[in-house]
Amino acid sequence: MAFSVVRLFLFLLLIGGGVLARETNLLDGNFYHNYRTLTTDSSHFRSSNNGREVRLSMDNSSGASFVSKQWFGSGFFHMKIKLPRGNSAGVVTTFYLTSGDGDRVNDKAHDELDFEFLGNIKGEPILLQTNVFANGTAGREQRITLWFDPTTEYHDYKILWNQNQIVFYVDDIPIRVFKNLTESGVPFPSQPLQIQASLWHAKWASQNETDWSYAPFKAHYQGFDISGCPCATKQCMNECYGQNYWWNDIRELNSDQRRAYEDVRRRHMHYDYCASHTPAPECSFNS
Ligand SMILES: *[C@@H]1O[C@H](CO)[C@@H](O)[C@H](O)[C@H]1NC(C)=O
Ligand SMILES: *[C@@H]1O[C@H](CO)[C@@H](O)[C@H](O)[C@H]1NC(C)=O
Ligand SMILES: *[C@@H]1O[C@H](CO)[C@@H](O)[C@H](O)[C@H]1NC(C)=O
Ligand SMILES: *[C@@H]1O[C@H](CO)[C@@H](O)[C@H](O)[C@H]1NC(C)=O
Repeated sequence: MAFSVVRLFLFLLLIGGGVLARETNLLDGNFYHNYRTLTTDSSHFRSSNNGREVRLSMDNSSGASFVSKQWFGSGFFHMKIKLPRGNSAGVVTTFYLTSGDGDRVNDKAHDELDFEFLGNIKGEPILLQTNVFANGTAGREQRITLWFDPTTEYHDYKILWNQNQIVFYVDDIPIRVFKNLTESGVPFPSQPLQIQASLWHAKWASQNETDWSYAPFKAHYQGFDISGCPCATKQCMNECYGQNYWWNDIRELNSDQRRAYEDVRRRHMHYDYCASHTPAPECSFNS
């Protein structure tokens, strides 16, 4: 009897340890635990400080990118980023969640949550664009100016994703809320998503051409711990929406956050798809 109780205890300890180990692994801030690079040459990708910091470089031959090893069904994702300095017109630095490789022609149900920093000529503001793709529907761009210089220090960019809402944050200030309004016919991301980050060249991103004499452009990343529910198939999505995960309890902005959010929208909004003549149905709920 005593023996089997001890065995049961050891068994539970083992299970608990297993769950803990999975979490501990994700919460390790070493790049190589949770991410892998999609860039093979060392001139465009470099890690330092024992995998605690990563530098992506872009020149006229190539940009660079990396991706999480796991897929996720919910989470509170973050990345610390320091953007390329100086003249960065046409240089786009990203951190995003995506349901696929972005072949949007064939990936009809594409889901994607984007932070995209649009570089600019020296002296002009870098714009932070966010976008939400859900079930293949895009065109939900918002662009804000930032209240600090994002090229001199690391800042923390976060995406909360649970069954109830998606919130984008800059240093804990919510800058965008996208509620689950599927009951009103607004699509909401519903598939496992993978974390990606990249530095690439996009002509559309700036009114000025990229000046390659400033290359290589360099973006720095830190913060490779992940608070997410690992899930690679539709079958585990329900578990990821459950109460085992603390971020699923975040259902509303608190009053301080709401004030900060309204302040950002009032003072820093540069472009908003919701400002069109016929705003999308979600616009009145999310502002
Ligand atoms: C790319 O940049 C290098 C160094 O500035 C230059 O020598 C080369 O001609 C450029 N290549 C192209 C295709 O523009
Ligand atoms: C996604 O859109 C398709 C039509 O394009 C629709 O049939 C399907 O029900 C939608 N799925 C979700 C999860 O909204
Ligand atoms: C959106 O919310 C509804 C409840 O209103 C829920 O049934 C559904 O699973 C949620 N959708 C997603 C994709 O999380
Ligand atoms: C950037 O583009 C604008 C508009 O085309 C132009 O007036 C300006 O001279 C350009 N600046 C630089 C530094 O290329």
